[in-house]
Amino acid sequence: MIRFDILTVFPEMFASPCGCSLLKKAADRGFIAIHLHDIRSHAEDKHHMTDDAPYGGGGGMVMKVEPIDRALQSVPATGEDVPIVLMTPQGEPFCQKMAEELAGHQQIILICGHYEGVDERVRTHLATREISIGDYVLTGGELSAMVIVDAVSRLVPGVLGNCESASSDSFSMGLLEYPHYTRPAAYRGWEVPDVLLSGNHREIEAWRRRESLLRTRKRRPDLLKERALTIEEKKWLDMFIDP
Ligand SMILES: C[S@@+](CC[C@H](N)C(=O)[O-])C[C@H]1O[C@@H](n2cnc3c(N)ncnc32)[C@H](O)[C@@H]1O
Repeated sequence: MIRFDILTVFPEMFASPCGCSLLKKAADRGFIAIHLHDIRSHAEDKHHMTDDAPYGGGGGMVMKVEPIDRALQSVPATGEDVPIVLMTPQGEPFCQKMAEELAGHQQIILICGHYEGVDERVRTHLATREISIGDYVLTGGELSAMVIVDAVSRLVPGVLGNCESASSDSFSMGLLEYPHYTRPAAYRGWEVPDVLLSGNHREIEAWRRRESLLRTRKRRPDLLKERALTIEEKKWLDMFIDP
């Protein structure tokens, strides 16, 4: 069971992604718990201001440190080593390895910024790590927090029906996954590779490993540089030259 505490000024944005499909099932079955904390309800002035103009001038508003700090203090900590993650395009790039590491925690706190971003003191004094979901800028941290919740939740044992699915996914083994097919075996003349219909599990396994390797070389050669190849894998790569 993993608990996510999400600090946001737009909690309503989470209703749909958390309210259907695997995440809903995972929550209903007690594998994950998602707690939303409205930062606005921790703003103590009469207008419940969560942002203000930047010191030094310039456009855009900056999220204030006090409501975020108070929201954080209201979150019950379930253990010692709870990551307090600030979502920011300036953070460490999110990847499958990081999702695996985060899935080892019992609780994760995610802080969603908005507008020009958050007061720097959130970064320096409150957050324990910063994560970016890619080199582009979103309007707010909510979508990026959902990406983390989704990628981490599917690694929690029991969330995926078939426990093999996550381990053969792209990136888990340092490779992209092999291609999938389902019925019908032929459609408009587009045929499923014979080996998948053969019933020979050893050959199917070998075909999948080879396809995974060749696909990775073609689309993400950078991944292969980080991987120690077996003799068999090297042989396959030499045998099959991309057109
Ligand atoms: C418009 S962005 C602020 C960008 C900021 N001015 C900068 O240049 O670094 C508002 C908020 O969206 C979230 N955000 C935007 N892009 C993101 C990304 N690539 N990864 C994670 N969070 C992001 C962050 O929480 C950020 O505080």
